[in-house]
Amino acid sequence: MKLRRFTVVAVTAAAVAATLNVVPASAGHNSKPADQSLRALAARHNLYIGTAVDSAALNDPADPQYRKLVTQEFNTVTAENVMKWESLEPTRGQYNWGPADELIEFARKNKQLVRGHVLVWNNQLPAWLTEGVADGSISKTELREILKNHITTVVKHFKGKIWQWDVVNEAASDPWDSPSTIHYKGFWAQNLGEGYVADAFRWARAADPKALLFYNDYNLEAFGDRGPSDKVQFVYNMVKSLKAAGVPIDGVGSQGHLGTQYGNYDVFQVSDTLKAFTDLGLATAFTEVDVRSHTANIADSNELNPRLQASAYNHGVLLQACLSNPKCLSFTLWGVSDHHSWVPTWFDDPPEGLATVYDENYQPKKAYFELKGDLLFSGPPYVLPRVTQKPNKGR
Ligand code: G3I
Repeated sequence: MKLRRFTVVAVTAAAVAATLNVVPASAGHNSKPADQSLRALAARHNLYIGTAVDSAALNDPADPQYRKLVTQEFNTVTAENVMKWESLEPTRGQYNWGPADELIEFARKNKQLVRGHVLVWNNQLPAWLTEGVADGSISKTELREILKNHITTVVKHFKGKIWQWDVVNEAASDPWDSPSTIHYKGFWAQNLGEGYVADAFRWARAADPKALLFYNDYNLEAFGDRGPSDKVQFVYNMVKSLKAAGVPIDGVGSQGHLGTQYGNYDVFQVSDTLKAFTDLGLATAFTEVDVRSHTANIADSNELNPRLQASAYNHGVLLQACLSNPKCLSFTLWGVSDHHSWVPTWFDDPPEGLATVYDENYQPKKAYFELKGDLLFSGPPYVLPRVTQKPNKGR
């Protein structure tokens, strides 16, 4: 009798673990789960862990390790560049779907969900569009139609294949801009006014009723003083108003670009901020996580080691905060290895780098093991599985 009961319990536990494709939540350091990839460990929490994918690296026959790690470690992917407007429609009316379609097919084969990045952003716009507006050959009325057409065409093309869309990216200014009071900034706000944000969500929803629609931005990790120069407060007010107005927004993406030279935040500040957004009925996600460091002196291990540890700590703060909130649906890294990171080309005076969880030679860094440990050694009662977010139909 006792043996039978034990067998039933064991079989049930094994079945649950198999369903979740996971290591049992009770797995400790003495057990030896078969699959300790990040994606298998994240699946224990129904969390999706991802990376931005550089399509050139993915298709580079001289770099097979890149493809291997994207496949093995991650269960969601984001196009680092190939879904941006300048890539999809370099010439007006002529869409270049090839590279983005390839990534979608790669993800399907590898059972990965795709975050669509990005529908509306002030950067990486095609020259025909920005120059047309600048020389007056594209009027404001026409520009609004062009934006509607772009969103509709792109979202319909990928309909059913995108889990989360970054509908609007980086619409808010920063406190170091002038004026320091946070405001809508850039090309779209200047030409169409702030109403473009609500319009973009409504057009995206009309084109795909099922994709989750996100607002995405950087420096959203933690509230500041909640005053006029607090970007998180501005974004909070914005998404709250959008929801109140019946705009079909489903989530807020916190990019998570950190630097070890800054103070950054503790896990409680970050989890409180996620909770503020999810209390509005929104999902959240970390969408572009990396933690860069100054690199001028890193030949000296006295300089290098503290940076690697600080990077690991900050990756851990963001992941633990995400795990703490069942409506934090995904955690995406911005680049697989330091070899492919955007950081060294963007921050070169003084030089910065070391931002990802694998080094230049694909060796996992302390940050990788931090993520792995956080995923492995967490579970109920404090970490509960993610809950499904239903798309907001809007009104
Ligand atoms: O495609 C051209 C290529 O034809 C040309 O030969 C090459 C020469 O420089 O440039 C290529 O374009 C580059 C593009 O990445 C693709 O590699 C651009 O110069 C370069 O500026 C661009 O950088 C991207 C950056 O966004 C542009 O804003 C980074 O890879 C990408 O990681 C970065 O990602 C953004 C997110 O989308 C939004 N949040 C911030 C994040 C980091 O800036």
